[in-house]
Amino acid sequence: MKIDAIKFAGWRNFKKGEVFPAPGVNVVVGQNGQGKTNLLESVYFLSTGFSPRITRQEQLINHESEYLYVSGKGTRAKEEPVWVEMGLHRDNRRVNKLNGALVSRLGEVVGNIRSVLFVPEDMDLVKGGPARRRRFMDLEICQMDSGYRNDVERYKRVLQQRNALLKFSTVDGTLLAVLTEKLIKLGMNISCKRREFVKKLSLLARLRHRRLSDGTEELALCYTPSFCLESGECGVAAQVREHSKQERIQRTTLFGPHRDDITFLLGSEDLRSYGSQGQQRTAVLAVKLAEVELFLAETGDLPVLLLDDVFSELDQVRRRLLMDSLPKGIQAIITTTEPLSETNPQKTFSVRKGQITELV
Ligand SMILES: Nc1ncnc2c1ncn2[C@@H]1O[C@H](COP(=O)(O)OP(=O)(O)OP(=O)(O)O)[C@@H](O)[C@H]1O
Ligand SMILES: [Mg+2]
Repeated sequence: MKIDAIKFAGWRNFKKGEVFPAPGVNVVVGQNGQGKTNLLESVYFLSTGFSPRITRQEQLINHESEYLYVSGKGTRAKEEPVWVEMGLHRDNRRVNKLNGALVSRLGEVVGNIRSVLFVPEDMDLVKGGPARRRRFMDLEICQMDSGYRNDVERYKRVLQQRNALLKFSTVDGTLLAVLTEKLIKLGMNISCKRREFVKKLSLLARLRHRRLSDGTEELALCYTPSFCLESGECGVAAQVREHSKQERIQRTTLFGPHRDDITFLLGSEDLRSYGSQGQQRTAVLAVKLAEVELFLAETGDLPVLLLDDVFSELDQVRRRLLMDSLPKGIQAIITTTEPLSETNPQKTFSVRKGQITELV
């Protein structure tokens, strides 16, 4: 996968602009607060329709604009180019287009431009709360599995309805049973896909981690689902029934993928409470690089790799190790505050106050 063009209006601090990345390594240089991360974020937004950096979508719209518009032209290996366009208004209205045609469902546009993003805030994957890790699973799986986003949207709707029903002092038992059945079916679908994703990612991340660290510690990711998947649909139904009294007391749904988590282990220790800053950073980086391999295995194509300020905390040896470990032929966009001697970029861009220029 290569992204050949990115255009934006009203995106963060970019009022208007366009970039034409090279198919290989691109370096984006700029001082703090100029828009480097915003640029990478725009590519990830085109891939997933979301950003891991925000809590409200509105934050993405330029302070002085009423809406944002981002578009990208991507070309997958041996395929025709695709144009993905996304618009977002302040009232949260979205407009999505694929090859110029309006599409009503976000699920139809996401995954057409595939990318893996590593931003310093990704340390939250280890350090943050479980909601962050659930969002991570959702955003990544939806790029590889076109039906996944729809499952998640449908699950959210059923969950909302079920929670609303549980708020009543007398609950309509028949309706609750219908919603519970739907919740279990959709929930198990989501949980099974998440389990598969984490299992594969964990294997690849372990190998990556060995190469990035000195190989003395073993990294593992463990999916901890809220449903006990091993017992099948009947077992999950029994599990939910068992806690129905508690759900009535707490007036909320206590089971399902909205309560899942991932545990990061280093050896047998929980990386979250035990790991140093450097160990956590290396682990997250290993996970991101493992994702690149997983994309290749699952889709037959490499994603665009977006590395934000990743070199600032690495010594020269580790910078070299990282550059050498990038898969051959991958398109990467790497941001930095200082020009880097290790990267040997095909194109270099400079970002200043939301203006991007290619340096020749
Ligand atoms: N919605 C928005 N409208 C206007 N400006 C915004 C918006 N969101 C963020 N910004 C501004 O964009 C600027 C650039 O942010 P960005 O995170 O891309 O900087 P950066 O170049 O990555 O800096 P650093 O090197 O410190 O990471 C910030 O000054 C921020 O205040
Ligand atoms: Mg930044």
